[in-house]
Amino acid sequence: MKVLFLGDVIGKPGRNALRKKLDHIVRQNEADMVIANGENSAGGIGISIKTCKSLLEAGIDVVTTGNHVFKKREIYDFMDEEPRLLKPANYPPDTPGRGYNIYEIEKLGGLKVAVINLCGRVFIDNFDCPFRTANRILEHIEKETPIIIVDMHAEVTSEKVAMGWFLNGRVSAVIGTHTHIQTADERILPGGTTAYITDAGMVGPRDSVIGVKKENIIEKFITGMPQKFTVAKNDVWINGVAIDIDERSGKAREIKRINCEVDEEHDIWSSRG
Ligand code: FE2
Repeated sequence: MKVLFLGDVIGKPGRNALRKKLDHIVRQNEADMVIANGENSAGGIGISIKTCKSLLEAGIDVVTTGNHVFKKREIYDFMDEEPRLLKPANYPPDTPGRGYNIYEIEKLGGLKVAVINLCGRVFIDNFDCPFRTANRILEHIEKETPIIIVDMHAEVTSEKVAMGWFLNGRVSAVIGTHTHIQTADERILPGGTTAYITDAGMVGPRDSVIGVKKENIIEKFITGMPQKFTVAKNDVWINGVAIDIDERSGKAREIKRINCEVDEEHDIWSSRG
């Protein structure tokens, strides 16, 4: 089976890009399931009921999130109601929502795919240990399905690389999110069968600093003063990875990077097995 995993969707430009191009990318990659990180889908920070629904309507099957998931209060109850929306599983207990779930893919005869959402702890908010949390979840879901996709939402590359090695051979894919910059280290990890990339990138405007108007960010760096951050608009592209997974064993066969310019006539594709 093929899973398409897209990086952080940034505000309206990101949501519009998916409406415009997702079907095309799904067809081109023969994707059976689409996962995207939606924690920046509402105005560039947080997720609302409206933006979550718009991602699902655009064709996303599972929306993962990260450290900004609880920015908007309206999402708290919705997180408990909507099984296709995940929060990091290593949030302290008793926070709303679920951190992992198992989904049945209808067009593959009800094939079960587990998705786990984790958040790193370095230079980010206080979370429980993502490594111990992953161990605990795997104990529950390993009996259900060997096809397991992990979104490791984290700031530093080392924590994501470490999670890749930690889960190598135990899950189908460990995909990093949060930095909005796609890395070029995608591969099937040696000695195991896990597809890995440190960061999938973003679905958002490249004419920006990680999705925010570049003038806002430059001003903040120069003056040290608080600035209003506005989502940038131009040069939107869709970053992600397509992962080919053996349905019976859950082993990843291939991971390919995806970069699609939304406003251009041509698409740019880069790939590596
Ligand atoms: Fe984040």
